[in-house]
Amino acid sequence: MDKYLQAVKVTENVWWVGAIDWNIRNFHGYSTTRGTTYNAFLILDEKVTLIDTVKAPFFDEMYARILSVLPAGKIDYLVSLHSEMDHSGAIPRAVAMLQPERIFASPMGVKTMGEHFGKTLPVEALATGDKLSLGNENLSFVETKMLHWPDSMAAYLDTAKILFSQDAFGMHLASSELFADRMPAWQLETEAEKYFANILLLQAPKILALLDTLPTLNFDIDIIAPDHGPLWRGEQCALPLANYRKWALQEEKDRAMVVYDSMWGSTGAMADAIADGFRSAGFPVDVYNLQACDRSEVMTAVLNSRIIAMGSPTMNNQLYPTLADMVTYMKGLKPKNMTGIAFGSFGWSGEAAKTLHAAMQEMGFNMPLPGALAVKYVPEKEDLENISKQARKVAEDLR
Ligand code: FEO
Repeated sequence: MDKYLQAVKVTENVWWVGAIDWNIRNFHGYSTTRGTTYNAFLILDEKVTLIDTVKAPFFDEMYARILSVLPAGKIDYLVSLHSEMDHSGAIPRAVAMLQPERIFASPMGVKTMGEHFGKTLPVEALATGDKLSLGNENLSFVETKMLHWPDSMAAYLDTAKILFSQDAFGMHLASSELFADRMPAWQLETEAEKYFANILLLQAPKILALLDTLPTLNFDIDIIAPDHGPLWRGEQCALPLANYRKWALQEEKDRAMVVYDSMWGSTGAMADAIADGFRSAGFPVDVYNLQACDRSEVMTAVLNSRIIAMGSPTMNNQLYPTLADMVTYMKGLKPKNMTGIAFGSFGWSGEAAKTLHAAMQEMGFNMPLPGALAVKYVPEKEDLENISKQARKVAEDLR
């Protein structure tokens, strides 16, 4: 069944031809509670150019939007800025249906495209500093390696003054609005922050390098067009740039958090006492029980937290599975400037809290207590009072 969908105008000759995924709730382990978009852009110049595509099942949606402004359905150039499947999955069908004369990617993209779609796909390399003339406009390229894939690249369209930033400066947020300035500020802040914390945090040094490089490229940017979520335009372009610097530096964190799971309520009682200790030291605290909260929610809180307490009961001599998951996920994202406390109740052997303490040390957290706070079976009131006091002291020492 053919789809009937329209392209959305970005500027006079640039159209959004992407797809809205209203229903996705799990994006490789990240909870996308408000869905997402896969943004693709069509530039109508002498050389009709498609910037990125969409996730494979959304090809028909992208194709219908392209046909709404390009009835011939034939493009000249296809530029892939990043070969992760949410942007490249539709490339094989796009090549078959839209018949581009030339396909471009970064030098690393040439390799990864071959590894995804076979070496017979004729992909040409464009590197930092290269320009591609489309007729009246030019695309300039800057490789953004590891933001967040090795082949990532951004492109700048000169006359329209659009920076196609690929995954950077985006967010997972499905909306019928194309521009961020037509959306609530709280929603943009929340989703952009979550996206940074869960996708880009581990590459914070490279984010800072990119932010320092951008002004030297003399791009006069009117619009930042990422591959997910709304586009930034005008004065609002400064917002993601400022936020990315703040989030990458991880220096302005002012909250505390407790993340835990509990089998029979004892580790939970310890979590509450620790949260109370942090609060009495003047820190706003958020508490995350992993039975109720998912890992990407927790990581978003990490972006704003200076202090983190992590608690696990011991199960079969191991971390409780939810905490093992959380530690693995957090370790990969490499948060910085964290002070930590490990805690947990145990019945037999009590490895979990010690394992957590060691894992937090391994992540580079400042761990001021000599070891984990541990209680056998059920904590007494005095135990909780003592735990709370120790948490308070750790937090006060950071003031
Ligand atoms: Fe949006 Fe890295 O894919």
